[in-house]
Amino acid sequence: MSFGLGHGRELVPGDVGIDMRTLPRLPDAPTVAEVRRLLAFDPRSWFAHPERRFELEIGSGKGTFLLQQSVLEPETNFLGIEWAGEFWAYAADRVRRAGLSNVKLLHGDATEFIKTRVPDGIVSVIHLYFSDPWPKTRHHKRRVVQDHTLREFHRILAPSGELRIVTDHDELWQWDVEHVERATDIFERRSFERPASAGDGEFVGTNFERKFRREGRPFHAMTLVRR
Ligand SMILES: C[S@@+](CC[C@H](N)C(=O)[O-])C[C@H]1O[C@@H](n2cnc3c(N)ncnc32)[C@H](O)[C@@H]1O
Repeated sequence: MSFGLGHGRELVPGDVGIDMRTLPRLPDAPTVAEVRRLLAFDPRSWFAHPERRFELEIGSGKGTFLLQQSVLEPETNFLGIEWAGEFWAYAADRVRRAGLSNVKLLHGDATEFIKTRVPDGIVSVIHLYFSDPWPKTRHHKRRVVQDHTLREFHRILAPSGELRIVTDHDELWQWDVEHVERATDIFERRSFERPASAGDGEFVGTNFERKFRREGRPFHAMTLVRR
């Protein structure tokens, strides 16, 4: 239960919200039975139709992309992952009130979740929009794009699956491009195609994009296709 971003109105994640801390614990030295249980875990089972196409958004913020796109693709399951509790609760509350059964919001670290909980080859698209730039050198290790995270994204993507990136931040963009250039064996870079839900002149139409657009900032975007 939370009130912050709701400006006094209670935010209720309900069935939409999942807290990563409630997932089965990862033991240091798992028994055979525990390994079997962990290998059997599949986040698609959180949805009413687990067999459907599955997409992830890393850092969903207030959930605007998920709300806009999921109504246009009711046959796709979307999992947004957000580690800031207030944003997670706000986005989950919005999705719950909109009655969207094909969207879930996970509260936790997306890179940790992907590394430890997501089976190989099950994700059609990973969306990464306006990721935190972490400008200080000592914080660069917190950026989502790293050599090892690109390998994990490749592992969880289905054949020809895509990682879609948009940012306003020049230095983060340079960082992303340098990492992508070291990953040409696993990803082919293509131009970004706007999702159907993007408004006129928008790349995606997230909250941060709209805020930065008002400030007149330029944007960078690319799609990486899994080889
Ligand atoms: C700058 S905001 C952009 C939010 C949204 N994508 C948008 O464009 O409006 C970045 C968001 O990513 C979240 N975030 C950053 N790293 C994350 C991680 N490793 N796991 C989950 N959420 C993360 C932050 O808490 C923040 O809400």
